[in-house]
Order: sequence, then structure tokens, then C-alpha cells
Amino acid sequence: MNRVHIKTYGCQMNERDSEAVAAMLRARGYRIVGSEDECDVLLLNTCSVRDAAEQKAIGKAGYSLARKKRNPDFILGILGCMAQNRGASLLDRLPDVDLIVGTQKFHRVPDYLDNLRAAKEAGAPIGEAIVDTAEELDSQNTIRDHMDGPEAQVCAFVSIQQGCDMHCAFCIVPTTRGDERSRPMEDIVRECAELAERGTREVTLLGQIVTSYGRRDYPHSGGISPFVQLLEKVHAIPGIERIRFTSPHPKGFRQDLADAFARLPKLGEHVHLPAQSGSDRILRAMKRPYTREGYLGIVRMLRSAQPAMAFSTDIIVGFPGETDADFEQTRSLCEEADFDMAYIFKYSVRTGTPAASMPDQVPDGVKEERNQILLEALRAGSLRRSQALVGSVQEVLVEGPDKTGLRFAGKTRGNRATVFEAAPRLVGTLVPVGITRSSVSTLYGELVLADAGLQTEPCPASL
Ligand code: 5AD
Repeated sequence: MNRVHIKTYGCQMNERDSEAVAAMLRARGYRIVGSEDECDVLLLNTCSVRDAAEQKAIGKAGYSLARKKRNPDFILGILGCMAQNRGASLLDRLPDVDLIVGTQKFHRVPDYLDNLRAAKEAGAPIGEAIVDTAEELDSQNTIRDHMDGPEAQVCAFVSIQQGCDMHCAFCIVPTTRGDERSRPMEDIVRECAELAERGTREVTLLGQIVTSYGRRDYPHSGGISPFVQLLEKVHAIPGIERIRFTSPHPKGFRQDLADAFARLPKLGEHVHLPAQSGSDRILRAMKRPYTREGYLGIVRMLRSAQPAMAFSTDIIVGFPGETDADFEQTRSLCEEADFDMAYIFKYSVRTGTPAASMPDQVPDGVKEERNQILLEALRAGSLRRSQALVGSVQEVLVEGPDKTGLRFAGKTRGNRATVFEAAPRLVGTLVPVGITRSSVSTLYGELVLADAGLQTEPCPASL
């Protein structure tokens, strides 16, 4: 009765929340199992950012509920953003769900499961589902304890903030994640230091809008924003070799952050910089407080701080009112920014957001056409940028075996996935890899050894 499987949909924040729930459940004596077929409790940690994500989780929940017919003790819980967004109304479609827990209540999951299991064991009838989507003061501080899993992770996510106050016209996040709240700087630094002691070498600082971190809690100091102050503190932790962060907002990229990339060597040369559109008219309608030229100015500023800087982005096609001319602006922005990677989304109506009721909704066929045009352009750009790395030597953090288990995988400073032969003892170390070939998203190469002729197996000391 105590085997739990957690299936996660959506973003890295959700991944991190699932890890935190898993850690809390383990501490209560639950077993986290990798296989859904072997679990007694299935928890779906859901995403609401687009309708397709919600439909996927609802479909999965409906399918999983069939298990209850075979096994009445089976427990199904829906956690996270869709739970927050839809609350008890999910029970209209999924009446047999046991547990619905919103984004500020993850830490309550162990208690709720204990209660459900105790009731089942006592043979007590379980009436209503447990639904908890209330707000909780300081909930940003509850996503704290990091995994207690058997092995330290080479790369770990650290939550620094929850919620968002930006209210972009298309976005459901302010509803699902609430107002922007930051964790105390010393808590974050302590968590990163503990992770480093346990073997983590790369931390990704997570939030909806990380560049706004601490703006209400900490003053600027000598022109340095609280977010950059946090980067400096994490940078000073021995054992942390690399720092990444996501997602920032373009408006948060001031000179102090660009300078940080030049002076803090643990910051990899990669920035995820959501553009959403290249048309000033659409950016205004989206309530994105920057222009096309402002966005490209940030790209130039960061490339002048770090010429090797790689950018990824998020783009929405088919926002209400988007004309062919607007789309052309987005296409050409992608060309000019020269992205390494992009997530392209077809605009999805989110009930309750301002854009949902805007006139001139774009037909699905047009969205799909624009999606395909951009995908192809970005694929070609990404391939060109990865091919430009063939022949270079890249510093790679070895994360573990690759998908086949035959070789090892890690990422370059610019966040490119890289596959190469290595020895298990190199996991968690930075190694130089000579790049020999590339695909759109992956680099392939060989360890560069100082004394290659004498070594049959790579040895850290020789690297
Ligand atoms: N429709 C399509 N894409 C969306 N995103 C957010 N809301 C929507 C929506 N309603 C995209 C944005 C954001 C990413 C996480 O999801 O590009 O940056």
C-alpha cells in the first residue's frame, strides 16, 4: 500500500515540486517507484499552461481510474497547476479521484495520503475527495528540503521563488502559482551548499521570473540587483561548478546581470530568454514590457559580455490579432537573434486570461502553418550553430550514462547535450570533449586527454 509513482507534466518547476513531494513521502516511509504499474498510489503533478497539457493529464487520470475497479485500494491524486486552476470542478469529469492538491499545498500531500490510507485500512468509507487548493502564506519556503534519494544528483534544481506578478495577457500562471514570493537568500545558499556537499556540481535556480528575485525583500547594493547578489553568493560555494537559471524575463537583463556573465565563470554561456513575439504591436497586446529592438539589444549586450553566448527562447504563434506581417517580424527576430534552441507554442486560449476574450482569434490552420515555418527555420539555425562547434573543445559536466547506457552524456557550458565515451568515475567532473560531429540538438565527441598516447582509460588527473 505504500508504493507511490509520481508522473510529472510541464516545466522544471513541476519537476522540482515532484522531487520535493517524493522526498517528503520517503521520509514518511513511502516507497517511490519508477513504474506506474507497480504503484498503489499514483500522483499526477499537472500543468495548465496550455489546454493540451490539461487534456493530457485529464485523459491519463480517466484511464488510471479504471484501475480502481480492479483494486479499490488504488489511490489517484492530482497535484499542481491544473489542480489549482480547476479545483473541485475536476470531480465533475473525474468523480473517483481521491486527492486534489494545489500548488501551495504540496507539503500537505504526506498527511493527506496517510489519512486516505488509514481510512482504507480501517475499512471506513471514503466519502468526498480531499481537495486543498487554498493559498498559504510563505508557501515558497515549503519547497525546501531537497531529495534524500539514494544518490546525489550531479545537476539539481533549486527553487528560489514562486508565483508571478507580470500578468502577460496569455498566461495562466498568476492564477496557478499565485503572487510573486521569494525565498530568503540564506535558505537558498544553504540548500545549494548542502547539495554541493552531497556531490551536486550544477544548480539551476528556478522561478517564474527569476530576474525579479528578492526585489521587495533586498535592496540593490552598488547597482547590483538582489538576483545578481544571489548569483554571487551561490558562485562562492565550493563544489558548485556551474550555475544556470530559468526563467528570466527580458526586462530583468540590466548591465549588472550581463557583467555577471563576464565576471562569474561558473555561469554557463547560455540564457533562456523568452521573446514570445518579434512584433512590437503583439508584444504590447501581450503586455510584454519590451520592444523587438529592446530584446535584440539584450541579446547584443550579452554577446558582447560573452561572445559564445547561446540563447534559447519561447515563442507563441497565433496570438489574437497576429497578422502575416506580425509573424514575419517574429520570424526575422529569430533569424537575427540566432537562437540555439526554441520552444514554439501555438497560442492556446486560457479561460480567465485577458487574451481569451480578445477579438481576432487566429484560426488553428494558420497557427499550425506558422508553427511549421518557424520550426523549420529554427531547426536549420540550431543545426548550423551546433555544426559550428565541430572541431572545437567544449567543457562538459559529465552527468551519467547516455540513453543507450553505452556512452556518457553531459552538457557544454552553452547547454548543448553532448555524448562521448568516458569512465564512470568521471561522472560529476568537468571534462574537455573534442567535438567530432553534431545533430540538431546533440554534439558527439571524444575526451581530450593531456597524454592520450599513454592512457587506455581516461584518468581525472590527466584531464
Ligand atoms: N498559449 C500558448 N503558449 C503559452 N505559453 C504561456 N501561455 C501560453 C498560452 N496561453 C508559453 C509561453 C511561455 C511558455 C512557458 O509557455 O511561451 O514562455
